[in-house]
Amino acid sequence: MKFERKDLLGLEELSRGEIEFILETAGSFVEISERPIKKVPVLRGLTVVNLFSEPSTRTRISFELAEKRLSADTVNITASSSSVVKGETLKDTAKNIEAMNIDMLVVRHNAPGAPHYLADVLHCPVINAGDGPHEHPTQALLDLLTVKQKRGTFEGLNVTIIGDILHSRVARSDIWGFTKLGAAVTVCGPPTLIPPDIESTGVTVSYDLEEVIPRSDILMLLRIQTERLKECFFPSIREYSDFFGLDSAKLERAKPDVLIMHPGPLNRGVEITPEVADGPRSVILDQVRYGLAVRMAVLYLLSGGELKSEDSD
Ligand code: CP
Repeated sequence: MKFERKDLLGLEELSRGEIEFILETAGSFVEISERPIKKVPVLRGLTVVNLFSEPSTRTRISFELAEKRLSADTVNITASSSSVVKGETLKDTAKNIEAMNIDMLVVRHNAPGAPHYLADVLHCPVINAGDGPHEHPTQALLDLLTVKQKRGTFEGLNVTIIGDILHSRVARSDIWGFTKLGAAVTVCGPPTLIPPDIESTGVTVSYDLEEVIPRSDILMLLRIQTERLKECFFPSIREYSDFFGLDSAKLERAKPDVLIMHPGPLNRGVEITPEVADGPRSVILDQVRYGLAVRMAVLYLLSGGELKSEDSD
């Protein structure tokens, strides 16, 4: 079975079957990173360029490690160290990179739709590593893989995403992913940080974290995206934290097996306290671990790789 798309741009456009196929493929890649020799030759001879024009720790390193563990040659470029600072357009930058016969482009950009635009003008596969507040498909896929590994199913799960939904590409991709796989999603935060039309995506809205905690199976905390805030959305960080930050006292009301998730980077003491982030219910570092397998799977599938029939049901 093959993945019949040239690019991975977002979860909105993927079917449930396509998402399940990527997760199944990713599941078969988890074990590779646990071997003493963490390298397989499936992308040997291929070149992948990682073009990041926004800061990143997890996504950039995870893609680079995934590429190296699949034996691809990798090149990393940041906007600030490229000829973009001399006025070159994104299209010209990408076309010039492609003229060097690369095989895939991974792109993070602050403009929503930038990876979609590049996917139209380039022949090689393009992977969206986060486009402004729009989508972050590999983050959602790793969130889904984490829940699949920990819970086995999405049906009947209550997933609550808490915080700055308005500016969060992770929230958007997670909403598409979790709802398509059968989970019920609630978004929770101050009214100013919840998009007014969000219920059209099939989610429930709550402005009361204490009310949603007891019925949640997953609590996904999000950081306030201060780099995207152009006005004042709440009175103070302290007040935000009092109402929407997750601490041990609020967590006492949760189900005993609730999973605490966060895409990172964490603002400790704002949306999550250190005791909760580092506590027994936190799967935050598992998310990072599964992210590597997800990115290996996406690179493999977009290079034309197949999931062997003995790997699938
Ligand atoms: N989760 C995530 O995208 O983290 P980075 O911004 O560090 O890549």
